[in-house]
Amino acid sequence: MARLWDKGQPLDALVESYTVGDDPTLDLRLLPYDVRASEAQARMLRSIGILDDDELDALLGALGEALAAWEAGDFVISVAQEDVHTALEQFLVQRVGEPGKKIHTGRSRNDQVLVDLRLWQRDAVTAGLEAVDAAIEAFEGFAARHEDVALPGYTHLQRAMPSTVGRWARAYVAVLRQDRHLLDATSLLVADSPLGSAAGYGVPEILGLDREQTARELGFRGPLDPPEAAQLGRGKVEAALLFALSQVATSLGRWAWDVCLYVSAEFGFFALPTAFTTGSSIMPQKRNPDVLELTRGKAAVVRSALAEVQSIAGSLPSGYHRDLQLLKRPLFHGTDTALAMLAVAARVMGGLTVDRQRCAAAMTPELFATEEAYELVRQGVPFREAYRRVADKYKV
Ligand code: ARG
Repeated sequence: MARLWDKGQPLDALVESYTVGDDPTLDLRLLPYDVRASEAQARMLRSIGILDDDELDALLGALGEALAAWEAGDFVISVAQEDVHTALEQFLVQRVGEPGKKIHTGRSRNDQVLVDLRLWQRDAVTAGLEAVDAAIEAFEGFAARHEDVALPGYTHLQRAMPSTVGRWARAYVAVLRQDRHLLDATSLLVADSPLGSAAGYGVPEILGLDREQTARELGFRGPLDPPEAAQLGRGKVEAALLFALSQVATSLGRWAWDVCLYVSAEFGFFALPTAFTTGSSIMPQKRNPDVLELTRGKAAVVRSALAEVQSIAGSLPSGYHRDLQLLKRPLFHGTDTALAMLAVAARVMGGLTVDRQRCAAAMTPELFATEEAYELVRQGVPFREAYRRVADKYKV
């Protein structure tokens, strides 16, 4: 079947594949949301008298079939169809005929993609919050198991002050809780419904579109107003989610770096179970912390996804532009990456062991130099004088 806007003129094949891009594969993830939004659209079209009861029933049945086909892995979007919105409309026309040709009344692919992405993003936030909670629980469990194991604190990667393994892990719990607030707050940005903003300017009043009804059915607070705001939000909404997730990713990237250091023979504070390490094709003795290095690297991948989204969307005038299509890949990739990092961090913290002897051996006397200076301060010695005396003692 052909493009929705096809009027019989030929389209250059190179231009076609270039403009369609990755949509036939990327858009597959949006199918369940396009179905849900289409169900709401169909019910609303029934309420305002565009569809009759039989047409509504036929459409709802066919939408159910589309979802079932997708669940079975059989829903296909062809290059000629361009995107999920076209593929679904043509699926409906093929199954039920005439009512399928009515479903697009009062909407445009421009607001369809917005509503799909908002519904997708709502689920992504829920999944993200659950994954952060699971990671926090794993960090807390590790902290509880090693609460009082003394560990040097480092500045400039030089031994600095006494700390503990428990406090090291609880520091990550604290930053992940802050990241969680940011993630939670992004829900506010997807709370209103763009459906019915159509191409970006609403639809003529003569149609009597009920945006309240579709908004309510889809679990939004209400319609996003004015309709002109809808396309301005594309990119900003994605960036908000990716910013929150890049904060999560940065927390985990720094954690991964710590663990890489601490499992090395030089530090030896922690050990990874063999099942978490990978080997070398040439050096028989190697057990490498690739899982942590990739976590460090993936933190940069998530930050790059944010940069990509901001760069593409941040330099456009108002209204819809095809550039916006390019936001889907970094949105999906950045989100998938952050969720995978959280799952891996929780798993690693569940299996990481602590070498208490190596930790104890690292607690060398100079870590207590500041404490010694404060003992002198307590005896009435001015801090700068005390500082010098202790420095002399350690010959620095
Ligand atoms: N694939 C498009 C996107 O993601 C859907 C909207 C297409 N709209 C258009 N006017 N070509 O942005």
